[in-house]
Amino acid sequence: MTLRVGIAGLGTVGAGVVKVLRSKRRELVARAGRDIEIVAASARDSAKDRGIDLSGIAWEKDALSLAARSDVDVVVELVGGEEGVARQLVERALNAHKHVVTANKALLAHHGKALAASSERNGVALKFEAAICGGIPIVKALRESLISYDIGAVRGILNGTCNFILTQMESTGRAFADVLTEAQALGYAEADPTLDVGGGDTAHKLCLLASLAFGTEPDLDGIELTGIQGVRPADIAFAREFGFRIKLLGVARRTKDGIEQRVHPAMVRAGTPLAAVGSSFNAVVADAGEAGPFFFEGRGAGQSPTASAVVSDLVDVARGALGPAFGRPAAELVAPRRLGSDIRSSAYYLRFQVLDVPGVMAEISRHLANEKISIESMLQRGRAPGEPVAIVMITHDASHSAVVRALKAIAASDKVSEAPCMIPMEPV
Ligand SMILES: NC(=O)c1ccc[n+]([C@@H]2O[C@H](COP(=O)([O-])OP(=O)(O)OC[C@H]3O[C@@H](n4cnc5c(N)ncnc54)[C@H](OP(=O)(O)O)[C@@H]3O)[C@@H](O)[C@H]2O)c1
Repeated sequence: MTLRVGIAGLGTVGAGVVKVLRSKRRELVARAGRDIEIVAASARDSAKDRGIDLSGIAWEKDALSLAARSDVDVVVELVGGEEGVARQLVERALNAHKHVVTANKALLAHHGKALAASSERNGVALKFEAAICGGIPIVKALRESLISYDIGAVRGILNGTCNFILTQMESTGRAFADVLTEAQALGYAEADPTLDVGGGDTAHKLCLLASLAFGTEPDLDGIELTGIQGVRPADIAFAREFGFRIKLLGVARRTKDGIEQRVHPAMVRAGTPLAAVGSSFNAVVADAGEAGPFFFEGRGAGQSPTASAVVSDLVDVARGALGPAFGRPAAELVAPRRLGSDIRSSAYYLRFQVLDVPGVMAEISRHLANEKISIESMLQRGRAPGEPVAIVMITHDASHSAVVRALKAIAASDKVSEAPCMIPMEPV
């Protein structure tokens, strides 16, 4: 029997899904054991030329009507956003006993547990492979393939826009704002880039990865968040001198004291797989103890990779693979115990812009020593008369809160000309 699909949203991803389902039909029948056919679709503008063949597909003016159609078995939600039509459609579809496939990380990060519970109550699937890193099959890997390992950490480069910007800043020496404008012109960044460059999009994906890996409920509010807006070309250049690259990482780690989740620019050692991930590519590392790190790299966005992830979920549904959304019953997804930042420790890259006057180094050293922070290496650069100079240090392992306290004290000095920069060093 044909699996009948109602699709909401025919933008980048939705149009891609139509194309893949049409162009790969015979192969998909062979893989799924039955035909997968789009019977109804909805988007805002019915007159828009989308470059796709919509013949034979019923048009619904109101996307929510898809959930009420008796000829739809599975609703594909590709509208986006954590509230509004997307949320209502998914809720209604599940309650109407229709399977749901979505690429909507924002929706799942905010409402994932409740939606997973609803899918179980209604005996239908909720699938979201495309929501985390588009074409990289990391959801299935964590939900099914790696379940025998105790995953200690999942971390990665989860946002292609940020990786593109940082890679460009590194290769051209240009400033963040400049490269962002170029990324927008090339279509790598949204007109409103806040969610990407502020780290929010990475946080959405990270809390879902943590949930899949650790069996906890998605805990978006538990993520400590710093975007890439404050990264300077000087930091990228200093990083290179020390043998590192700056990447926006999402890191979720399970420790005996709780679960740590953070999103921030990090110093990644050159020559490691994560450091080599360039341009708009994404990568995820799953640390699986003795089995070693599993490394996944690929296109995290774009029409074809994201659409193929949606289609792979549809094939799973067609085959009857309907297990719980996060790999275990929603009722078992407990709220994670959050690791306090006072317990967290790491080595840090620190940059101070200071006035070139006697005693400044002694003052910085004193504040660091007061917090028991010791220095592994140091550089001092820039000396045009009257201009501030940069003092750059890499610390040994130090407690996060101790470093924050020391920097606060240093920032208060009249010899320091701007807020100090602090970037954690990511262990290999
Ligand atoms: N783009 C990617 O590479 C990518 C990667 C991974 C995940 N995702 C996720 O995939 C989802 C879709 O992203 P996208 O890039 O395809 O977005 P998009 O290009 O902006 O497309 C959104 C679609 O939703 C339709 N839409 C908006 N409001 C609607 C409403 N009230 N009722 C019905 N349809 C409505 C739009 O209609 P009109 O076309 O008529 O305006 C458009 O077709 C999002 O959740 C996104 O986070 C995207």
